[in-house]
Amino acid sequence: MVCLGNICRSPLAQGILEHKVKAAGLDWHVDSAGTGAWHVGEQPDRRSCEVAHKYGIDITAQAARQIRPADLNEYDLVYCMDSSNYRDVMRICKTEQEEGKVHLIMNEAEPKQNINVPDPYFGGGDGFELVYQMLDRACDSIIDKRR
Ligand code: 4NP
Repeated sequence: MVCLGNICRSPLAQGILEHKVKAAGLDWHVDSAGTGAWHVGEQPDRRSCEVAHKYGIDITAQAARQIRPADLNEYDLVYCMDSSNYRDVMRICKTEQEEGKVHLIMNEAEPKQNINVPDPYFGGGDGFELVYQMLDRACDSIIDKRR
C-alpha cells in the first residue's frame, strides 16, 4: 500500500487489509510505504488512527517508511492511492514484470475508472472517513478476487 507520506492513507489501507486478511484466514503479508521521506519513522496521523479505531482496527504500532526499489521485487502487488503515487512508483520499477504489479487501488473496486483516494492531510471534516470507506471497499474487492 503506497501513498505520499505513509502517515494518512496507506497506513489505513494496510490496517484495513490486514484486518480482512486475518478474518478470511489468509496468510498474506501486508505492508505500506510512502513515496516521500518527510515522515519516516513517524506513527500514522492521529486522524487515521482515530478512524481506524472507530472500526475496531489498531494502526498505532505502524511506523512510516519510504518505498525502496527492492519492494517492487519482493512484493506481489503494489497498490497506489493516487495517480501521482502511481507515476512515482512506476518510475522506480526495473522490469516490465515489476510494472505489472503496480495498480491504482480504487481500480479494484471500480475497474478502469482510475479514481484517486483523496489526500486528506490538509483537509478537515470528513476526509478521513471518506478515505476509510473507499479503502474498505477496495480491500473487500482485493480479498474477493484473490483469496
Ligand atoms: P498521505 O498524506 O500521503 O496519505 O500519508 C500526506 C501526509 C503528509 C503530507 C502529504 C500527504 N505532507 O505533505 O507532509
